[in-house]
Amino acid sequence: MYPDLNSQSAKNFERAKAVLPGGNSRSTIELKPHPIYLTHGAGSKVFDVDGNAYLDFINNYTSLIHGHACPAVTEAVTKQLSLGTAYSFGTVQEIEHAELICGRVPGFDKIRFCNSGSEAVMNAIKAARAFTGRPKIAKCEGAYHGSYDFAEVSLSTGPEDWGQNEPVAKAYSKGTPQGVLDEVVVVPYHDEVAAEQLLKRNAGDLAAVVYDPVSSRVGMISPTKAYFEMLVDFCQANDVMLIFDEVIAFRLGYEGAQGVHGVTPDLTALGKIIGGGFPVGAVAGRSDVMAVFEEGGGLPHGGTFNANPVTMVAGMATMKEMTRDAFDRLNEMGERGRNEFNEAFKRAGVTAQVSGQGSLMRLHLTDRPMNSYQSVYPKPEEADRMLALHHHLLNAGIYIAPYGLLCLSTVNTWDDVQYLIDTVIEGLAKS
Ligand SMILES: Cc1ncc(COP(=O)(O)O)c(C=O)c1O
Repeated sequence: MYPDLNSQSAKNFERAKAVLPGGNSRSTIELKPHPIYLTHGAGSKVFDVDGNAYLDFINNYTSLIHGHACPAVTEAVTKQLSLGTAYSFGTVQEIEHAELICGRVPGFDKIRFCNSGSEAVMNAIKAARAFTGRPKIAKCEGAYHGSYDFAEVSLSTGPEDWGQNEPVAKAYSKGTPQGVLDEVVVVPYHDEVAAEQLLKRNAGDLAAVVYDPVSSRVGMISPTKAYFEMLVDFCQANDVMLIFDEVIAFRLGYEGAQGVHGVTPDLTALGKIIGGGFPVGAVAGRSDVMAVFEEGGGLPHGGTFNANPVTMVAGMATMKEMTRDAFDRLNEMGERGRNEFNEAFKRAGVTAQVSGQGSLMRLHLTDRPMNSYQSVYPKPEEADRMLALHHHLLNAGIYIAPYGLLCLSTVNTWDDVQYLIDTVIEGLAKS
């Protein structure tokens, strides 16, 4: 049963805390009262040090689209390992992966690899600044874009910050310089009229608007056509770069979220699935903007492990299996899952709903309409119920993010999803 302070996981946590602050290297995997330590993963399942198996519906926070130990990835990586893992030279693997990704998305003339989604967002912002010669960026309240100081602004605003006319620029990390806050314009995610007013007021100083079309903290709710139109029109009229953060959103389709929504941003930050389970990030976009990375372009960009050959072959093996049909099949299962979830809640008389797009879902333990960051923000009693539900799921052998985010991968079957739905209903009926 979770939690179990006598479990091997709990003991590992005590040991870890002696050498790792907080017992880990990653705040996002914290779990109270103790995290779970894994031995291995296979397909849709992961296995912990106490011998428990879990259906893994988080897939390393959406980065694995074929589940664990995908045979094609394992084969490609094994072959590469025997050829060496890192060189101070270019490789054909890097060119091939660049061709594969640019070949799929009309707006990707060129691509530049790095090692994480955070770096990708940072480099996209730096590229926009270098190209436009302007200092500011705009981002949505509550939207997560990784750990670059500027991208973190107002990630954690809560009820104490609301009630003002416009969203506040609030530091996420202690010690964030005021100068960072001064350079970030925070706009609401779903209100295009309010967002446009704020953008217009800062138009002359803005290098970029950074936007995630499937923002997890905003419930992964699909943005409206009107919001996209406002973003595109504003950016075009004011020579501001539109940056899509598709670190997660790229799993929405063969041409990413931009293909699904029919919008072509100037730059796109990528990560997660394009590395096939290895650390990765990338910036892709218009060739005149991407030229800032060229010699004399104004944005030198190093990185010892950029375009690492192991990552490149793993990413290629993963993406080659993600044909248009494979995306359609996965997204259909996601759509059916969301529908069946919401039907099941109604039938059971349970106060809950599921939102999301494609293979991504987010559970909310309320029936209020989900139409903004503020409406998605859980009330304390909802957060308590979610924690209880999370423990119930763990004990039934299911893993989702503790705040209700989950995703499907190509190795999931409908039986997996049905089991998830039944177990969620059972857990909520208890609470
Ligand atoms: C939308 C989005 N952008 C950026 C990042 C940062 O990516 P990474 O964790 O690889 O640095 C994440 C990570 O979850 C993300 O969800």
